[in-house]
Amino acid sequence: MASRTSPLVIYTIFFFLASFHNCAGQTANVKGVYWFPGSDFAVSSIDSTLFTHIFCAFADLNPTNYQVTISSSNQAQFSTFTQTVQQKNPNVKTLLSIGGGGANTDAFAAMASQASRRKSFIDSSISLARSNNFHGLDLDWEYPDTAANYNNFGTLLTEWRAAVAAESRTSGKVALLLTAAVFRSWNYYSLKYPVQAISNSLDWINAMTYDYYGPGWSPSSTGPPAALYSGASGQINGDAGIRDWIQSGLSAKKIVLGLPFYGYAWRLVNANNHGLFAPANGAAISADGSIGYRQIRNFISQNAATAVHNGSVVTDYTYSGTTWIGYDDTQSVSTKVTYAKSKGLLGYFAWHVGADSNWALSQTASRAWGA
Ligand SMILES: *[C@@H]1O[C@H](CO)[C@@H](O)[C@H](O)[C@H]1NC(C)=O
Repeated sequence: MASRTSPLVIYTIFFFLASFHNCAGQTANVKGVYWFPGSDFAVSSIDSTLFTHIFCAFADLNPTNYQVTISSSNQAQFSTFTQTVQQKNPNVKTLLSIGGGGANTDAFAAMASQASRRKSFIDSSISLARSNNFHGLDLDWEYPDTAANYNNFGTLLTEWRAAVAAESRTSGKVALLLTAAVFRSWNYYSLKYPVQAISNSLDWINAMTYDYYGPGWSPSSTGPPAALYSGASGQINGDAGIRDWIQSGLSAKKIVLGLPFYGYAWRLVNANNHGLFAPANGAAISADGSIGYRQIRNFISQNAATAVHNGSVVTDYTYSGTTWIGYDDTQSVSTKVTYAKSKGLLGYFAWHVGADSNWALSQTASRAWGA
């Protein structure tokens, strides 16, 4: 008997594919990374095969009319961003990220507090994403800092999702992705993110699980900038933040773990006392001590510096003379990505792609996650 595919099988496959297409809103996993123009790293140099989602940072919020805009100096790179990164990986998705650590947080609070201002933000962000060919929008409001702000943040997300769904119905295009970069834990200094609105409205959150210790705010001793676990001292750690987010009721499948592709450098008080939490005198190397991974690798090779991996808290540090740098090397990245997968998280993201060294961290993360 000749083997022949029955019409029923063909119809079944067709309907399976058709229904799959309709739920394109379900993201299977996230291997994300941020890029920003000030990083002096060309968009065309991004190895987009190592990522599923790339965030283009940042669009700005106009504090007067509450519209989202792209500054004229960024316009050329942003408008061709998607096309450029899709040359190496046609499946990669791009999101336009709004705000950032350097943005005016008062403008976000004012925008979110009134319906007409939220509409201005929402409508302008959607048309900006469409006219510049992004697949989604990422809100990076650092941070809502009052109970009212958190409530308004939730209202904004709910209205944003409704507008994105309406636009998709009208345009016939797949709905824009909606994400937000949020604090490392649900609890922001005793204030709580609006979990129900996040769960209903966002595709996922990027939990900024880093910047725990840095010479800018902890100048008098070294520290692990982004340890995964607490040491004996009960230090701030990523696992506590992720457990807090899961405890909030948010599905692990909406949580994406943050990886820093940078570290912080301190000046040691005593070159011979060079462990974690050793006495220090503020920043070394740069004004706030921040230093990208590629420069850290250069520092290690140029100074034949000692590099230490602490696998119990999951951090790396290196020192030479009185310069001490805390950071994540490949082993820390691999452990964190394996942790994210084991917790059932949606994936990971890194800040920022231009700081990697020959793709070492990006490749390690992608391999640790798997297909
Ligand atoms: C790792 O760091 C913690 C401090 O946070 C310390 O208690 C522990 O002894 C360190 N482990 C090693 C192997 O040095």
